Amino acid sequence: MTSNHDHHVQAATTARTTTTEPANAAPAEPAASPTATAKPALSDMRMTTPQPLYGGRGSRRVTVRDIAAAKACGEKWPMLTAYDALTARIFDDAGIPVLLVGDSAAMVVYGHDTTIPVTVDDLIPLTAAVVRGTSRALVVADLPFGSYQASPEAALRAAVRFLKEAGAHAVKLEGGYRVVRQVEDMVAAGIPVMAHLGLTPQSVNAFGGYRVQGRGEDGERLLHDAKALQAAGAFSVVLEAVPAELAARVTATLSIPTIGIGAGPACDAQVLVWQDMAGLSPRTAKFVKRYADVGGVLRDAAQSFATDVVAGSFPTEEYSYR
Ligand code: KIV
Repeated sequence: MTSNHDHHVQAATTARTTTTEPANAAPAEPAASPTATAKPALSDMRMTTPQPLYGGRGSRRVTVRDIAAAKACGEKWPMLTAYDALTARIFDDAGIPVLLVGDSAAMVVYGHDTTIPVTVDDLIPLTAAVVRGTSRALVVADLPFGSYQASPEAALRAAVRFLKEAGAHAVKLEGGYRVVRQVEDMVAAGIPVMAHLGLTPQSVNAFGGYRVQGRGEDGERLLHDAKALQAAGAFSVVLEAVPAELAARVTATLSIPTIGIGAGPACDAQVLVWQDMAGLSPRTAKFVKRYADVGGVLRDAAQSFATDVVAGSFPTEEYSYR
């Protein structure tokens, strides 16, 4: 959406205006001024005009207030995963307002079969890279398996590391009632929390595989969990692999946004793992739409490079120093 040049200009502009220009925030309280006239100045109008999360003109970081405002005005928005600075920059330039450094990194970055082995120490450098590669997106760090289940204290300790060491703006954790105290304590400490219900991949062993969740009576339980997480202060909730009808009920019931992944069209937002949606992952779930064939493009590039090297046609003079 913006060129690199625009990016630098925007970054400079953002630095000058962070305290005065909430690009897509809920309306700010106008400051009382002795010189104020009846007609609002253009700058005041910009201050109070909410910008869409996707496609707006805002250049400062998206915040959880912007996310709340989007739900209030019925705006749908996209979220993608990101694990490195260059890819994150592309998604930031494309206007993706929220990037998740998912524990899916265990599979798509580190090559494991599940998300279970990845640790806080594995994810912190990836999160820091995504924060450094972006200037607008809100960056959410996933709390990996084992970092928050034991106690609210453990959750707070892990979350604090993601905010202090990596610069994350929020964290995500999986589960319903059993993590409510974790959510409360993190929120009380000033850490925005994204919840995750349905097919929570860290519980793959308990589920006996990657299966659709929330069918039948389980749907009522999921709805109760979603309400409890909202009451605990979560600012949003991911719904993964649940029936579309259930996701629609949860979305209509909650005042915080739902973010669907295999949860049908009614959710307030949609998220996909970027390697799945861009055609890099060899196998994907039914709910993944492939928007590109990045795998094919990379394979062709690698083969063209190899062919040139073998034939001695790379490097030519053009790519050599005198
Ligand atoms: O880890 C991850 O990438 C996720 C998303 C799929 C929601 O949790």
